[in-house]
Amino acid sequence: GWSMDKYVEDAAERLKKQVGNEKVLLLISGGVDSTVAGGLLLKSLDPKNIYLMYIDTGMMRKNETEKVSENLKKLGAENLLIIDARDRFLGPLEGISDPETKRKSIGDTFIRVQEEEIAKHISGDYFLAQGTLYTDLIESGKGVGNKAGVIKSHHNVGTPLVEGKRKEGKIVEPLDMLYKDEVRRLGLLLGIEEKIVYRHPFPGPGLGIRIIGDVTEEKCDILREADSIYIEELHKRGLYSRIWQAFAVLLPVRSVGVTGDAREYGYVLALRAVVSHDGMTADVFDFPTKDLLEISSLITNKVKEIGRVVYDISSKPPSTIEWE
Ligand code: XMP
Repeated sequence: GWSMDKYVEDAAERLKKQVGNEKVLLLISGGVDSTVAGGLLLKSLDPKNIYLMYIDTGMMRKNETEKVSENLKKLGAENLLIIDARDRFLGPLEGISDPETKRKSIGDTFIRVQEEEIAKHISGDYFLAQGTLYTDLIESGKGVGNKAGVIKSHHNVGTPLVEGKRKEGKIVEPLDMLYKDEVRRLGLLLGIEEKIVYRHPFPGPGLGIRIIGDVTEEKCDILREADSIYIEELHKRGLYSRIWQAFAVLLPVRSVGVTGDAREYGYVLALRAVVSHDGMTADVFDFPTKDLLEISSLITNKVKEIGRVVYDISSKPPSTIEWE
């Protein structure tokens, strides 16, 4: 067997050999893989040479940007590039309701913003680091050892940046020998909080695909608030770790409700919670009814724009985990 300590040692050696004293850029999503990759880079190389770029799309979860900055600083980040790209993402999305058009718009903006910000903040040559896991290599069908075209994050698939760096041999993937559970162990060893290490997956397009129909800043704010109450309650009630992925979805439906004597039309919010091994198939989480009812009341009490809460009882297949 091998120990995680030994892995960290070997990875550090490999990184030093490959990168030397050059700059390394890592795009941070806030998820487990990119955070652990960042922690490993910072531990292995001179933090002065490491550039961690996080892009706030305006479709992030509540306080996400602040939390990500704080976590990376704790890990010793010196060049933290927190990019406020909210207007650049939300502007082009105005009036777009079709799910694939939304994804395409968000993906295109990612490419544009990355290029703009790299040009602004990084001079000269640099390596691009990615949080690719062993399973990402296998799933891509390329196998280990032949990494041509093997790419991890959905929004970076086939981007000119990744393709270009790969051609130059300027890609580093320090997690490429690890499975997800090993990445989690490594994360804990690097001192990353359990709350981050055991985080549910979150899609690249963010809340943009959890707001059904067109995306506005106002809807992002409403969903952010509701989602944060939901997730916080799952933690408090000891349910979070029993669920593979949980989130809220804002529907483009207004339903009638009563407050005092008035009839009001509020948004409908759907709660989703599934159990799964890999996201390929998923079963509905057998949610304790009492918790579900209490969480529903908390949300409608605290988020005045939401008038009704429903629980999604569909498995995958035939449904997908996300609604779009
Ligand atoms: P579905 O909805 O296809 O989701 O059952 C399976 C897993 O993939 C995530 N997902 C995405 N991740 N960009 C991403 O980075 C996307 O466009 C995207 N769509 C779905 C989803 O959250 C689930 O974990």
